[in-house]
Amino acid sequence: MTAAQAVAPVLTEFFTEAMTQLVSGVAVITARRADGMPCGLLVSSICSYSVHPPSVLIAIDQSTRSYTTLTSCEEFGTHLLGREHTDIANTFAGQADDKFAGLSWSWDGTVPQLDDVPVYLNCVVSALFYHGDHAISIGVVKNGYVRPSEPLVYFRRGLNWRLRAYV
Ligand SMILES: Cc1cc2nc3c(=O)[nH]c(=O)nc-3n(C[C@H](O)[C@H](O)[C@H](O)COP(=O)(O)O)c2cc1C
Repeated sequence: MTAAQAVAPVLTEFFTEAMTQLVSGVAVITARRADGMPCGLLVSSICSYSVHPPSVLIAIDQSTRSYTTLTSCEEFGTHLLGREHTDIANTFAGQADDKFAGLSWSWDGTVPQLDDVPVYLNCVVSALFYHGDHAISIGVVKNGYVRPSEPLVYFRRGLNWRLRAYV
């Protein structure tokens, strides 16, 4: 065994623990599968990439069922969640056959659009990169809406961390 192999598991644990200190928002990313059905997953790997053009960056794990769709689709939906949306977050973080069952949603072109979320962005894929076991997709925002809300925060391995409790 080489020194690098011996260190790797420790480094993974260290990195995972270190990232629990990063405060993230969470978003549901949706797209249309090749068979015409909607798919989606919860991500915390999302950031505002640029304003010119208005773009978001997301990272998708190749082990997810959504990976094939999100690395081949032309557009995807980004839904930033509010603090009242832990149920939706848990649904899209899970493996249900139909994550959209019981939710209010409609097609926005080829994008499944969830209703009643604080922020919806229709994003056209403009770049894809592959690194390690994830794909990075950059989507240019074509339309959407913003409503006032308190965000759903992911911190210390938990959803809805109350930042106020820290003050
Ligand atoms: C808080 C949280 C953040 C997550 N962030 C990501 C992420 O950024 N990228 C990703 O590919 N999966 C992420 N996941 C895992 C996916 O949501 C999960 O694997 C999901 O079941 C994938 O669904 P699918 O297999 O139907 O595509 C996250 C899960 C949680 C609970």
